This record gives sequence, C-alpha cells and structure tokens, in this order.
Amino acid sequence: MKGVLLAGGKGTRLYPCTKVTNKHLLPVFNKPMIFYPLETLINSGIREILIVTGREHMGAVIQTLGSGKDFGVEFTYKVQDQAGGIAEALLLAEGFVQNDNVAVILGDNIFEEDFKSDVLDFTGGAKIFLKKVSDPQRFGVAEIRDSKVMRIIEKPKKFISDLAVTGFYLYDCEVFDVIRSQEYSDRGELEITDTNRYYLVHHRLTYRILDGFWSDAGTFISLFKSSQHFYERKIRLNNSKKQGIKDVFSQ
Ligand code: DAU
Repeated sequence: MKGVLLAGGKGTRLYPCTKVTNKHLLPVFNKPMIFYPLETLINSGIREILIVTGREHMGAVIQTLGSGKDFGVEFTYKVQDQAGGIAEALLLAEGFVQNDNVAVILGDNIFEEDFKSDVLDFTGGAKIFLKKVSDPQRFGVAEIRDSKVMRIIEKPKKFISDLAVTGFYLYDCEVFDVIRSQEYSDRGELEITDTNRYYLVHHRLTYRILDGFWSDAGTFISLFKSSQHFYERKIRLNNSKKQGIKDVFSQ
C-alpha cells in the first residue's frame, strides 16, 4: 500500500497566519501540524509516501520534512499548481501509486489511533473512517442505517447525522478513473465526497467508526483545541510517570 499526504489548499480559514506559511507547518503543541498525519501513515505501516502541496510552499515543506530518512521512510513530492480540491490533488498521485492500493490522509487531520489493521485487511474498493462530532455541518457527513452507509453529503446545511467523514481514506487504484469522471463542484473543486459517493453507489464502500481523538485542525478553534489536547496528554504522561503509572498512549 502506498501513502499520500495532501498538504495543498489555501488555508483561508487560518488567515493571516497562512499568508506566508503553509497551514500544515503551523504548530500543533510541540510539532508542525504535518508531522501528525505523517506519523499516522507511518504507524499504519506505510513506507512510501507522496506529499502533495502548492507551488508557493513546496520549498518550506521539503525543508521541514527532507527525504524521509529522519522518519525511516521514503518521500516523493508533487506540486498542485492551484487548489482545485482534495480529489484533484489525489489525482496527481496516479503515477506514484500505479496498480497498488493507496492510503490517503489530509494534512490537517490529526488522529490518535493508527490504521494498521485496516491497511492490512484492505482488499479493494474504498474505506472511509467516521467520527461522531458535535458540529457535523463543517464536514462531509455519512448517514448510516442498518450498519450501511445510505448517503454522504459534503457540509450538509440540514442535519442528517453526526458522523463526520474524517480525512483518512483507503482506495484501490480505480480511484484515479473515478476522479477523472468527476466534475468540478460549485466551489471549483474536485470533491473527495463525490469520489466516495461513486464507491457507495457501486456497493464498494466500507467504513469504520473511530473511537479515539480526531481533529481537523484547519480552523483557529480546532487548531487551539488540538494543541490543548496534546499538551494535556503530556501533562497526564508526566504526572503518571511521577506516580509510576504506565501511559497507554506511549505504548
Ligand atoms: O477534515 C475532514 C474533511 O476534510 C471532510 O469531512 C470533508 O469531506 C473534506 O471535504 C474536507 O473538508 P475541508 O473543508 O476541511 O477541506 P479543506 O479544503 O480544508 O482541505 C483539507 C486538506 O486537503 C488540506 O489540509 C490540504 C488538502 N487539500 C485541499 C485542497 C482544497 C489539498 O491538498 N489540495 C486542495 O486543493
């Protein structure tokens, strides 16, 4: 399985902090944001990772991450000239993925758990990962009935479910033909929700509901809350060390 980390986009929700800095290089507690999705891919067993970012930030991203040697893996880089959507950015990975399967992660998505067993068990189609949230209108949202995905809607105006589609996805290599068949949305993007909907309609979409912490750190409030989460975890860890208690997250 190949890995793709998408770190393009405009970062407008974090303006003016993203005026000259790529959103994914902003700090989340003690590390650049991009380290978190990168570590999620690596902890899920992925060793070959393509990183996509916009032309204005490629230099800074490469300077931050290097060849992959520091992480014990191999990085390849691709430029997305304009922010034409998540699915458009993924299409750039076609030559890199070839006939393999691909794990895709969004550069602003922070997960506490890894996807090792999902990666190992994946045989084809597409798999999405859902998380119960209090503000579903911010995300792609999936409606589940009788353990089946009924529909997925991008940023629904009316409540359909509180299960957000998180920014980690598994696809087979057919995904590139799917994206090529898509049309740009009203906001001028090739939408990953349309990609997932294709697999849903063709009965090739599976899902898992996540238990652990998840955050899309792309707004000031979620960025702050993500930093706070890891700060509090650090404090808990320090306290439990003092008391001789083993920390479950560090295992
Ligand atoms: O965080 C999960 C949500 O991410 C999903 O629930 C939504 O279905 C999905 O559309 C996406 O929504 P956002 O509005 O949060 O997407 P955003 O435009 O913030 O892009 C998320 C990441 O994708 C961003 O950190 C970098 C990457 N990206 C985005 C665009 C638009 C690219 O690499 N290229 C792009 O052109």
